[in-house]
This record gives sequence, C-alpha cells and structure tokens, in this order.
Amino acid sequence: KAIAIVKEFEEKCETPCEKLRQVADAMAIEMHAGLASEGGSKLKMIISYVDNLPSGNEEGLFYALDLGGTNFRVLRVHLGGREKGVISQEFEEAIPPHLMTRSSHELFDYIAQALAKFVATESEDSRPLPGRKRELGFTFSFPVRQLSVASGTLIKWTKGFSIEDAVGEDVVGELTKALDRVGLDMHVAALVNDTIGTLAGGRFYNPDVIAAVILGTGTNAAYVERAQAIPKWHGPLPKSGEMVINTEWGNFRSSHIPLTEYDHALDAESLNPGEQIFEKTISGMYLGEIVRRVLLRVAEEAAFFGDKVPEKLRVPFILRTPVMSAMHHDTSSDLKIVASKLKDVLEITNTSLKMRKVVVSLCEIVATRGARSSAAGIYGILKKIDRDTLKEDGEAQKSVIALDGGLFEHYTKFRMCMESTLKELVGEKVGKNIVIEHSKDGSGIGAALLAASHSKYLEA
Ligand code: BG6
Ligand code: GLC
Repeated sequence: KAIAIVKEFEEKCETPCEKLRQVADAMAIEMHAGLASEGGSKLKMIISYVDNLPSGNEEGLFYALDLGGTNFRVLRVHLGGREKGVISQEFEEAIPPHLMTRSSHELFDYIAQALAKFVATESEDSRPLPGRKRELGFTFSFPVRQLSVASGTLIKWTKGFSIEDAVGEDVVGELTKALDRVGLDMHVAALVNDTIGTLAGGRFYNPDVIAAVILGTGTNAAYVERAQAIPKWHGPLPKSGEMVINTEWGNFRSSHIPLTEYDHALDAESLNPGEQIFEKTISGMYLGEIVRRVLLRVAEEAAFFGDKVPEKLRVPFILRTPVMSAMHHDTSSDLKIVASKLKDVLEITNTSLKMRKVVVSLCEIVATRGARSSAAGIYGILKKIDRDTLKEDGEAQKSVIALDGGLFEHYTKFRMCMESTLKELVGEKVGKNIVIEHSKDGSGIGAALLAASHSKYLEA
C-alpha cells in the first residue's frame, strides 16, 4: 500500500518537457498581462523604478539592510569603483520568530536597533561628512507596490510573515519612524526586492546579467525589460530605455503545474491560502513540509512505520528542507544519514533499508518537481525577452542569470536538476550561451549600489 501511495504521488508530480513548455508559455503570457495593466494578472510584474543598473563605477560608503530571507542582515559597504571593488562587513542573525507575526512597530524597532548597534561599533573614519547623513539601501523581500525607487507600500506578506498592521503601509516610512525612535539619523536612498538587489549586485560584476532568480525560503525573479514593452508605465521614458521588473513569480499559477492533494492541503492550512502557489511547490520553506505530509499519509494508511503513527510526524514544518536535502544526498550503502535524521528529527527508530529508500525517493520526487518547475519559469522569462532562440545570424546572445538563496546554494541535487532542465528546455545551441551565476549575498551589496546611484548627495 505504501508503495502504491508513493507511486501515485510520483505520477501526479511528473513534469515532462511538454508540460514544462506549457508552464513557460503560460508564464510568458501572464508576464505580458501583468505588464499591460495593474491587476491584469496573478503576476504583479512590479515596476521597480530601477532604470539604471550599476556600472561598476559607484563609490562611497553605504549601508544595507536585508530582511526577508532566512537571516536578517546589516551591511556596511565600501564601494571603490572598478579598481578597488567592494569591501563589505556584515552582521546577520535569524529574525526571532515571534516578531514575524506581531506588529509592524515591534518588527521595525528590532531592525532599527540592530542597525544602531552596528553603527555604534564603527570607527571614526566611517562617519559621514559634516552636514550629511549616512545612506542606506533597504532590501525588503516581499511584494511592495513601489511609489519611487525609495518608497513603496506593502501589498501582502509571504513566506512565514504575517503582520496585519503593516499591509498597505509605506515600508520606508515605517523604517524611518523606527530609526527616529532609536535616534539614528539615516536616509533610505533605495527600497528594493531581493531579486532586484541580486540583479544589481550581479550586474556590478558582469554586464551580461539580464535577470536574477531567488531560490531560497521563497522564490521570485526579476529581469530587465524594455520600457516601451510596459503599457502600464505612464512615467517618462527612461534614458536607458529599460526598466527592471520584479515579477513576483511566486504567485504564478497555471493548470499545467502539477499539484497534488498534499499541495492543496498545505495551501489550505497555510498563512496565505490560495496565494503563492508556484512558490509552494518550489521553495525551501515548503519542500520538506510536502515530504512530511506524504510520509504522514503512508504512516496512517499503510502503517509504514508500524502500528503507531509517529507523533512527531504530525507536527507541521518539523521536517525542514535542509534535513530533506541531507537525506536526499545520503550516499552511504545503508542510508545511515536518513536513519539518523528520521531518528533525531521525527523520533522514528529501527527503520529498515527499504523504508529509508522510500524516504529518499519522496525527497527526489518533491525536489525534482520544484527544480524542473523553476527551470520552466526561467525559460518563460527568456521567451518573454526573446533570449530563447538564436539571432538571425545564427548566434545566440549571451544571457547571464544571477541566482541566490539557500536552496540554490546548498541543495546540490535541486540546483543540478534545475540547470540541466533549463538546458533541456532551451536546447543545446542556445543553452551554451545561458549562464547561471551564483551571486552570493548579492542582494545586500546590490541594495548598497542602488543607494549609491540614487544618493541625494550625488549632484553635490
Ligand atoms: C540572500 C539575500 O542572499 O538570499 C536575501 O540577501 C534573500 O535577501 C535570500 O532573501 C534568499 O535566501 P534564503 O534562503 O535565506 O531565503
Ligand atoms: C517571496 C516574496 C518575494 C521574494 C521571494 C524570495 O516570494 O514575495 O518578494 O523575492 O520570496 O525571497
């Protein structure tokens, strides 16, 4: 019976190439719709107001705050232009979980205090010139309706956050008020999503970067669009002719994405039912939880772990994606890592090799569906900007995509599957010119770079 349940799950999760092509086509269509009008699609296609990416010549001392991934970060970034590059110092820690669901005031106070502590430790030579304020780029990794490059209102929370009174508020306003409360006089020069920060950080090192993708706690992508291809943009045409768009693809959904009863149940019981469906099948916050749900089912219906269902298996989110990854990568002949994780995390002892193999195959099924779907998303973006085919002269343009996030960085099988699927989708010739580049923690540096290019002292 257990094998039958797993088999059925596997079939429902299948992502053959034809299906992924349909996902990519649907993604490209939704991108068009989201660019045409506000609310025109599940894909928000947020205009970032970033129409000029870093050139590499940015200079000066800037700060960055990075909120929304596994860790909250504070950075001080010395930008030394092309010659000296970037030197950054940072401090990071996990946001205390209770702050993720309480009040806007408490969350922003916490951030402001962390920044104040960081600033208090710096040496004399980091002080701003007389009459000037320190400047800051704020990476806020949630959907924000940008009002300018340095302001925007929170559309909704995603991932594990849910703080009612912050929704609809100006994020920079909230941060500035908290900075005032702790007596820190800083100017927020840029408010960016992590995808935008990663794109900016990636472009600083490589001018061929045209898109950025986060595969971490959540998932999302940003890319460089032609301003004229954005009907909902009514502002002046940027000099560059370009505008960076935050797709918020986590909220994408399509009948072509394979969804199972476990996904529906996970969604229904989540903090944001009906939303972020693409994200819920791909990102690090959810993969381990999907595996747990299937395991619970085989325990309940097929007495897979014996007559008693292991109690821990009933605890939502107890099986985290890093644990799933460790089990998935177990290469020992008796799968001892799987055995020890099952014991330590779920208190399941005395597992047979056969049982452990079933656990590994569940990890494989869930990770493969997520990785292949994310590749289809990237393919969708390449299609939208005509980078999926050869040019008339038979050459392909080089397209570099900056990637970041814990899932991409640490879950090797996920990353490899995503990369090989992308090659499979675009074909060998074009595939040679598509480069995936890890932009480690690029989003904080990207935010500092954007703060530099939008500094209020630029003309001074
Ligand atoms: C980091 C960025 O590098 O990647 C964060 O600085 C981002 O802003 C994060 O949210 C995503 O990764 P994770 O795995 O921490 O969610
Ligand atoms: C979620 C957020 C999005 C962010 C992504 C990756 O999808 O809504 O803004 O970019 O996670 O961190």
